[in-house]
Amino acid sequence: VSDPRAIGVFDSGVGGLTVARAILDLLPREPMIYVGDSARFPYGPKPVEEIRRYAIDIADYLVHRDVKMLVVACNSVEVSGLGDIAARAGIPVVGVIDPGTRTAVHATRNGVIGLIGTEATVTSGAYDRAVAATGASVTLHSQACPVFVEHVERGDTTSDALRSAAREYLVPLIERGIDTLILGCTHYPLLSGLLQLELGPDVVLVSSAEETAKDVYATLLRSGLERREPDAPAHEFLSTGEPELFQHLAEVFLGPELLEVRAAQALPVGGGSWN
Ligand code: DGL
Repeated sequence: VSDPRAIGVFDSGVGGLTVARAILDLLPREPMIYVGDSARFPYGPKPVEEIRRYAIDIADYLVHRDVKMLVVACNSVEVSGLGDIAARAGIPVVGVIDPGTRTAVHATRNGVIGLIGTEATVTSGAYDRAVAATGASVTLHSQACPVFVEHVERGDTTSDALRSAAREYLVPLIERGIDTLILGCTHYPLLSGLLQLELGPDVVLVSSAEETAKDVYATLLRSGLERREPDAPAHEFLSTGEPELFQHLAEVFLGPELLEVRAAQALPVGGGSWN
């Protein structure tokens, strides 16, 4: 049997596209409905009750669209009450916190892990609980990075203002000797270049996007929900904000291959790097 229904993925904006990208890489036959709540972005500085209300709106919308699985591609949503969302959905729900935590606990060599995220995520203590639940004897040092998401939503990954903010956030983590950093916000993988440059090559960056996609893969197969038709699926990307702006950022961050497929004959293959 084949289940043609879409996987529902949502975030406060474009950050969840890092998770969407990773899912599409592992499950190229699966259709996706993505919702970015750009009109109410950012979630990070808001009270968790408010974030939970928004998240429930979107989850209800996606359930109404008959998605077969919900992927909460936003740490700030997950800390506001994944349980509520799961209970209302009646379908498998995959979050981002456990996958990233598991990977970090395995990656650390000295047992000192850093976490960066929004204010909502850091103050919730959700990662401290997730790390404790693994039973590993590691120490977690957390740092909220409130301005990061605004830069990412503007398509800025290189400005001087962003770089000096990064230095200010990262120095206390470097001083504590972290050898692994969890990117506890789905916008942050887009800042991996900057983060690695500032932290140096010895610090392992853990992007929950890729780890979450593996959980989505496992959950889909375990629940027997795969779509088996070989033809390319149709995706839907929805923004509650300005669609043109979202479209532009999605092209940059999700990848143009999703929106435009070029024929192989049109590529300059003669004498080129293919030989
Ligand atoms: N991408 C969201 C997260 O993973 C947060 C962005 C926001 O503050 O809205 O936490």
